[in-house]
Amino acid sequence: MLGIETSCDETGVAVYDSENGLLADCLYSQIGIHAKYGGVIPELASRDHIRKTLPLVQQVLLEAGITQSEIEGVAYTAGPGLIGALLVGASLGRSLGLAWNVPTLGVHHMEGHLLAPMLEKNPPQFPFVALLVSGGHTQLVQVDGIGSYRLLGESLDDAAGEAFDKVGKMLGLPYPGGPHVAKLAVEGKEGQFDFPRPMTNRPGLDFSFSGLKTSVRNTIADQLDETGNLDAQVRADIARAFEDAVVSTLSIKCRRALEQTGLQTLIIAGGVSANLHLREILEQAMEKVGGKLFYAQPKYCTDNGAMIAYAGCQRLMAGQKDDLEIKAQPRWSLESLPAI
Ligand code: KG4
Ligand code: ZN
Repeated sequence: MLGIETSCDETGVAVYDSENGLLADCLYSQIGIHAKYGGVIPELASRDHIRKTLPLVQQVLLEAGITQSEIEGVAYTAGPGLIGALLVGASLGRSLGLAWNVPTLGVHHMEGHLLAPMLEKNPPQFPFVALLVSGGHTQLVQVDGIGSYRLLGESLDDAAGEAFDKVGKMLGLPYPGGPHVAKLAVEGKEGQFDFPRPMTNRPGLDFSFSGLKTSVRNTIADQLDETGNLDAQVRADIARAFEDAVVSTLSIKCRRALEQTGLQTLIIAGGVSANLHLREILEQAMEKVGGKLFYAQPKYCTDNGAMIAYAGCQRLMAGQKDDLEIKAQPRWSLESLPAI
């Protein structure tokens, strides 16, 4: 199965084989293009996907050591994401399917993330609770099987990754801020600042990160010296306190979701699941309740073609495929997907 991911600022292409696993996986990141603007410029993203996707398809076939005639299906990300960027992968994916005369499937980007831990040697067993934490989504989902998704809670405003990126910007770090904030936080002292754990005092499994972001902005303004600079240690301490607030908020909600569903397995997926502090805290929390935590290796936490190839392969093997339409939808609910 060929998988194509172009929903945002990474062009990812991979080949997954149901018997032998992942055969090859190529990724091209557009970070260099968008960094100077401090965020993704959708039109530039679309144009760059046009330049990179087909050469990556050729490269991935070469690396997998197979020819196009051995591809039995094509999966592409059909949404959610930036519409122009999605249309590039969708048009190419659908066209390749037609040209090669193989079934084609438009895959839900968050289902791709959700299933990425399945690419690991020790995959989780259904049912489980999934915490999806990316640049665009923060969701808790009860997963009974592929396509059997029940949304338990989600962010009412900013996504966790978005909060990391915005705080990174406030601290003068490069785009995307998440990994840079995490790196800086390691140098920060614990407990120097105390940021809110939003919506943890009331029942429910929804999130809100925009108040936390404002709190960080106000603290930075308070801490600037007379020349408008932030002391290097204070900067690291703020990064640490922010990360602690996000991680403990996510951890509280994950434990609540497990209690509510009576499940013992938690998976974390999406870009923020690469965060080492989040993994460590959730690992400890799961140990306490006798549960188990699963996640993908870091390169399959952020956007990649492998997760799309895997998800497409599972659906294709269950007999699903699309008709001739080119599917691209910027918004798309996970719960609307068919179960397999
Ligand atoms: O899943 P992803 O690659 O793209 C979306 O589907 O949005 O997630 C990207 C997000 C960005 O906000 C990025 O800053 C964040 O994941 N991220 C991290 C880390 N690595 C990536 N956030 C915190 N800690 C990290 N180590
Ligand atoms: Zn993503």
